[in-house]
Amino acid sequence: MSTRVFLCPRDELAPGSLKKVPNAEVGDICVYNLGGTYYATADLCTHATASLAEGDLEDDLITCPVHWGQFHVPSGRAVTFPCERHLRTYRIIVTDKDVFADVEAEAEEALADADATGSPV
Ligand code: FES
Repeated sequence: MSTRVFLCPRDELAPGSLKKVPNAEVGDICVYNLGGTYYATADLCTHATASLAEGDLEDDLITCPVHWGQFHVPSGRAVTFPCERHLRTYRIIVTDKDVFADVEAEAEEALADADATGSPV
């Protein structure tokens, strides 16, 4: 099984925007374009049942639309109450035209964050 999942064409997602990509195997994925750099996390908020793709993206923070908890998109780190569990992140693969996620690999920012804190995110 390939662990590479198609997310969107590169030109579909403008900087500062995000979208949900349904995925039956790992659960829905949220893909973000932060100033021209793509990131992907689980779409489901870790606090309760909410789609982060329906939230507000400002700089590198996504605010959940239900209770307004926040996550740092590049690392998946929960930063604002009531979110306490970090988001799953996925490593991005960008080709000439398209954006993919490797669903078996964490984003490099998440791993660096885990190294810095001594605990996995
Ligand atoms: S469901 Fe996201 S903060 Fe509560």
